[in-house]
Amino acid sequence: MYNSIVKGIGHYVPEKIVTNDDLAKIMDTSDEWITERTGIKERRYFDPKKDTVQSMGAEASRIALDRAGLKPEDVDMIVFATLSPHYYFPGSGVLMQRELGIPAGVPSLDVRNACSGFMYSLSVADQFIKTGMYKTVLVVGSEIHSSGLDKTTRGRNVAVIFGDGAGAAVLQRSEEKGRGILSTHLHADGNFAEELCIKQPSSANEVWMNHDIVDHPDSRPYMNGNLVFKHAVVRFLEVIGEALKANQMTSEDINLLIPHQANLRISEFVRMKLKLAEGMVFNNIMKYGNTTAASIPIALSEAWEQGKIKEGDTICLAAFGSGFTWASALIKW
Ligand code: UT7
Repeated sequence: MYNSIVKGIGHYVPEKIVTNDDLAKIMDTSDEWITERTGIKERRYFDPKKDTVQSMGAEASRIALDRAGLKPEDVDMIVFATLSPHYYFPGSGVLMQRELGIPAGVPSLDVRNACSGFMYSLSVADQFIKTGMYKTVLVVGSEIHSSGLDKTTRGRNVAVIFGDGAGAAVLQRSEEKGRGILSTHLHADGNFAEELCIKQPSSANEVWMNHDIVDHPDSRPYMNGNLVFKHAVVRFLEVIGEALKANQMTSEDINLLIPHQANLRISEFVRMKLKLAEGMVFNNIMKYGNTTAASIPIALSEAWEQGKIKEGDTICLAAFGSGFTWASALIKW
């Protein structure tokens, strides 16, 4: 049986920095509230003249491929995670394929699992490699949230949290035992679908889109923050525990935990419960906010750039979000 190793990782964030004080100028919020409740100090907003989810994904992918010593022609499959697609259909993966020059005929799959999107994508890619079907799979998470947020006081509990960005990982087949992706665990519970969602426009409408829908709050993201928070802390710990148990490991075996960047308080809670020392959990939510499917690959790429991931390290990834969906992965780097 084959293993998947992470051969290269890269990220791209738009240039425009939006601070908490910038948001306080357009809605009733404050740097103090946002910092205290979420840990976020600033986030990036895309440039509508330049950035799309596919261009941002392509930029992150170029870096990841370069670091892997590979070219777009070497990619056997694309798995593209986003909750903010360029078109309703087709998926954004094919648009990135075109932009990157990945040859026609290479399959591309879009994954719509929000904050867990990258983790689901990683798992899908890993299965294709393990079965021997593909050798090199490009896994991308890319999001533009800023264009869809309700940037008024009405939408402040969501608007202050989310930011734009993209990350990519190149997975490649290896026959080395005990290296690469050791396990992935995926979960979902659709009972909570409406607790974190955008409901409109919807195919269930008699007419998919009309002027009333445009003005309706349902066409902006909704989050039951308290409920999501409570489920997140439980599921993060559960799914990390599941990964450790499946590999006969304990939290002492982890060199670095990279949680989905949802809230610094969630990361800190998980760190303390797992009895991990400060510095063993990587966070960059302070700079980027929550970039949903892009958050883990951006964090992975930054951690690697900062020398926090070394060969032989055991890296744990975990995510929770809309669906609800949640997932973990253990990687021997
Ligand atoms: O990535 C997907 C997973 N997402 C998450 O895991 C997010 C989970 N949830 C959270 O991170 C937190 O619930 C939030 C950061 C969203 C909210 O923090 P909270 O401590 O749960 O605050 P709250 O919703 O209970 O609101 C407390 C107060 C309310 O005012 P009252 O009713 O106490 O007068 C809100 O209206 O804070 C108010 N509020 C704000 N005030 C200033 C809500 N948003 C804001 C804001 N600025 N942006």
